[in-house]
Amino acid sequence: MTDPAEAAKRLAAARAVDLVKPGMRLGLGTGSTAAHFVALLGERVAQGLQVVGVPTSVRTREQAAALNIPLSTLDETPQLDLTVDGADEFDPQLRLIKGGGAALLREKIVAAASARMVVVTDRSKQVANLGRFPLPVEVDRFGVPATRLHVIAAGKATGCSGEVKLRLDAHGHVLVTDGGHAILDCAFGIIPDPDALAQKLNAIPGVVEHGLFIGMATAIIVADAAGVEVIGDLS
Ligand code: A5P
Repeated sequence: MTDPAEAAKRLAAARAVDLVKPGMRLGLGTGSTAAHFVALLGERVAQGLQVVGVPTSVRTREQAAALNIPLSTLDETPQLDLTVDGADEFDPQLRLIKGGGAALLREKIVAAASARMVVVTDRSKQVANLGRFPLPVEVDRFGVPATRLHVIAAGKATGCSGEVKLRLDAHGHVLVTDGGHAILDCAFGIIPDPDALAQKLNAIPGVVEHGLFIGMATAIIVADAAGVEVIGDLS
């Protein structure tokens, strides 16, 4: 693998695969880093490891199914042992921004159903303060302009300003998530108080979920050319 970022993602994912024990119920994240984890998990399953996975998106389900990883849903398996997922950013308090891949709602539901959430990432996602990556906010498609104004106001009330844009897909149409919602990308820059912003966003009726994952990640496996660093508790 020549691309250093992809090599780092693969390295982090390989460390996470070592956490998987026979019989585990796993949440399977979404994105390019999580895809490395799913690929490596598929290799272990082919060698006889028995686990069951709950995917966080249609595309992860398709990848895992193609690798013959036994799959379930939260309807059948509402409690999970471990979720492994990527992130768009993480800060020193293990707070995350997620949703760059538009899967944040299911990612958050699956992570919340898990005893542990381990994030796999390359070094580029590490920040001192969240907000360089535009914060994705998943919204109901009813009344998006009205919800957008509330999101802007929530940002303003917590010291954030910047463009709040409806995400479009590759064809220029409004992007629709697996759950049938739209995404507002909030280019707030540094978010001075992520906890306060999260609370404000939670209180907006049209907001289905936002990409601030606070108090959810139990550990972050971050890799770069120098190797792997673990932040938090892997046990
Ligand atoms: C998906 O909605 C996101 O939360 C991803 O987990 C995040 O975008 C990380 O993706 P990469 O591993 O592709 O950077």
